[in-house]
Amino acid sequence: MKAAYYEQQGSARDVLVIGDVAELTAGLDEVRVRIHVSGLNPSDIKARMGFSAQMPYTRVIPHQDGAGMIDAVGEGVSSERIGERVWVYETQQGSPNGTAAEYVVVPAHKAVVLPDEITMEVGASLGIPALTAHRCLLSDGSIRGKRVLVHGGAGSVGTAAILLAKWAGAWVATTISSASQAAIALSAGADLIIDRYHEDTADVVLRTTGGEGVDRIVDVDLLANLSTNLKCAAQGAVVSSYALKQSTDAVSVPMLDAMKRGCVFRFVFIYSVAQAEKQDAIRDITACLAAGAYIPAVGMRVDLNHIVEAHEAMESSCVVGKILIVI
Ligand SMILES: NC(=O)c1ccc[n+]([C@@H]2O[C@H](COP(=O)([O-])OP(=O)(O)OC[C@H]3O[C@@H](n4cnc5c(N)ncnc54)[C@H](OP(=O)(O)O)[C@@H]3O)[C@@H](O)[C@H]2O)c1
Repeated sequence: MKAAYYEQQGSARDVLVIGDVAELTAGLDEVRVRIHVSGLNPSDIKARMGFSAQMPYTRVIPHQDGAGMIDAVGEGVSSERIGERVWVYETQQGSPNGTAAEYVVVPAHKAVVLPDEITMEVGASLGIPALTAHRCLLSDGSIRGKRVLVHGGAGSVGTAAILLAKWAGAWVATTISSASQAAIALSAGADLIIDRYHEDTADVVLRTTGGEGVDRIVDVDLLANLSTNLKCAAQGAVVSSYALKQSTDAVSVPMLDAMKRGCVFRFVFIYSVAQAEKQDAIRDITACLAAGAYIPAVGMRVDLNHIVEAHEAMESSCVVGKILIVI
C-alpha cells in the first residue's frame, strides 16, 4: 500500500518518505480501514520531532486521526461492519501505523460510525481535537446555560470546543488574533469574539457577563493566560489546560486568588484519558454530528504526495483551519 513514513525523527523535509509498504491485515478484534482523509495534528509533528519521546518503532506511518471505510475485519469482529463509514482516533497509539496511508488497522472500538450525512473531511477532523475539547468542557458536568471562555477559538481544539459547547447549550466567548480566525470562530457559533492582542480579554468577558465571569475556561496557553483566567473566572470555575510549549513547562498559581474563586484546575492529556471517558465523549460527539452541529473549517487539503507541505504549514502556523491529507 502507498504510505508516508519516517524511520528517524527530524524535520518533515528530511525524514518523511512516500513509498510502498507492506499491506496490513486485521488481527483479533481489529478492523482494517481504507483511509479517505487523514487529519493532521500538532501531536503528529511533535512525535516526528521527538518532542517528548524517542522513536517508538523503527518505522512510523504518522497521523493519529482519519476517516474512511472498513474493508476487512479480523477474528472477533462481525463481518457486518465491512462497508461501514468510520472515523478513527489514536491509530498510532501502541502501533507504528497511522492514517497517512491507504489503509490503517485499529482495534474495532477505535473505528467509530460516521453518520451517512457527515463528510469524510469532518470525520478526519474529529479524533484528537474533538475528544480533547470534550474532556476540557464536559468532564465536570453539564454546561447547559453556563458560560465558557475558549482561548484560541480558531485552533483545531479551540474550534472543537466552541462547536461542542454550543451544541451542549453554553454561551461561548473566545479569543482570536486575526480577521480570518474571527471568521472561523464565528462560523463555529461563538457568541463573543475577543481580539487578544487589541483587547483586554478579562475586561471584555466581565463587562459582557455583568461581572459574573465564566464557568469553564478551555486554555491553549495556561502560562500566558493564567492571570486573565483568574480575573474572569466565576465562583467554582473549571480551568482546563491541554497544551504545552515545552515538555518542561510548569505553572505557578497565585493560590489566594484561585482559592477565593474556588477554581478547579483540570489538565487534559488525551492519550491517557480513561477509555470509559472517551466513550462518553464519543457518544456526545456522535450526537453533535447527528444534530448537524459539528462543522469545522478546513484550512488546507493536499494529497499524500504533498504531506511535507502540510507538516510545514502546521509548523509555521500559516494556515487557519484544519489541515487534511486526502488519500
Ligand atoms: N493535551 C492534549 O491531549 C492535547 C490535545 C490536542 C492538542 N494539544 C496541544 O494543544 C496545542 C493546540 O493544538 P491545536 O491542534 O488546537 O493547534 P492549532 O490548530 O495550531 O491551534 C492553536 C491555536 O491557539 C492559539 N493560541 C496560541 N497561543 C495562544 C494564547 N496565548 N492565547 C490564546 N490563543 C493562543 C493560536 O492562535 P495564534 O495563531 O494567534 O497564536 C491557534 O489559533 C498544541 O500544542 C497541541 O499539541 C494537546
